[in-house]
Amino acid sequence: MKQILILSGPNLNKLGEREPDIYGSDTLSDIENGCRTHAHEFGMEIDFRQSNSESELIEWIHDLPGHTVGLILNAAALTHTSVALHDALKLLDIPILEVHLSNPHQRESFRHTSYVSPVAHGVISGFGALSYYLAVEALGKILKK
Ligand code: DQA
Repeated sequence: MKQILILSGPNLNKLGEREPDIYGSDTLSDIENGCRTHAHEFGMEIDFRQSNSESELIEWIHDLPGHTVGLILNAAALTHTSVALHDALKLLDIPILEVHLSNPHQRESFRHTSYVSPVAHGVISGFGALSYYLAVEALGKILKK
């Protein structure tokens, strides 16, 4: 089975209790379960991880298992700040899909810049937990080509 990595950044472990009006009521574990179900429909296995640490996320990208065929990344606040994450992503030669639960462009201006977008195949944002599931589906279809 094809293996994909789904990474979530800082504060996303608090989903469910964190600003539910913006991020919805699903916990990250709900989203992990939903992603696993969707991935199976496309013949893929997921490795689902979250970290509050920029360096840990970067190390996971450096140490990506060789059989990983795609990356879905919600870098959370690091999206808008991290040149280091941008540089790490440039090392990869697999499709990268950027996801956000909210639509950052509808929010504060500091969320309008993304250091992930320039190295991403595409961006899915604004659909709550569905953003992750749409990304899994998109990756499944991209990888079938
Ligand atoms: C987020 C949007 C970011 O601006 C924010 O810092 C997050 C979550 C989203 O999924 O909507 O932590 O990436």
